[in-house]
Amino acid sequence: MYPTALIRGVPESFSNALVMGERPAIDVEKARAQHRGYQEMLQNAGYSLLPVAADERYPDCPFVEDAAVILDSLAVITRPGAPERRGETEAMAAALGTLLALRHISDPGTIDGGDVLRVGSTVFVGRSTRTNDAAIVQLGEFAAEVGLNVVAVPVSGVLHLKSAVALLDDETLLIAPDCVDVGLFANYSLLHKAPGETHLASVLRLRSGTLAVTTTAPATTGLLRDKGYSVVSVDSSEFQAADGGLTCLSVLID
Ligand code: GLY
Repeated sequence: MYPTALIRGVPESFSNALVMGERPAIDVEKARAQHRGYQEMLQNAGYSLLPVAADERYPDCPFVEDAAVILDSLAVITRPGAPERRGETEAMAAALGTLLALRHISDPGTIDGGDVLRVGSTVFVGRSTRTNDAAIVQLGEFAAEVGLNVVAVPVSGVLHLKSAVALLDDETLLIAPDCVDVGLFANYSLLHKAPGETHLASVLRLRSGTLAVTTTAPATTGLLRDKGYSVVSVDSSEFQAADGGLTCLSVLID
């Protein structure tokens, strides 16, 4: 069964997914085709898929990362920052509860998994428009149960921490320095996103070490290849239109 990638189908209502700015046109059929490509990429990387059915009531439900955070043997079911997304967690808890022990973020905490970046034994948590201090404290208590520590990171200019910081390997992060305090990541080697690609460059590190990178970030892709990384380009335009990056579309359990 392991490694497992939980993914969730794309509902018709995805065209009404939340967006930070003006609403772009979202082509749901194209999003579904891109989602199939994403699933194939995960399977080729060795993951077994754990599919959760789409729910028309929740346009953003394909962005499964926001509804659950995996901390080793624990699945922390979040309380998403956007009230209209809170119902997404029920089906996620049902699926993950078959595999892992569950913990739940509770009121007044709000947190989106897109704000949670695990690097070794450290769990960086973005303090964003979606994630508050109450949830960061609660997540810190769950993290301590499995020997991990939490570091809060104020985030600006992007939706989630993982829009600004991506894991490249165990020692190296890709970072948008205008969105976070780089001093908080002083223990790591840092590569900066190419100028103009802060919102366009999204990276998902696969088990093999290969990096999946959005096709909308050619300069950052070139930078990563120059540094010796194996890169596979992924067209996720319809999900990017809804402020979603490549990590958002799966919950990976190793
Ligand atoms: N559309 C992603 C989000 O706003 O949560």
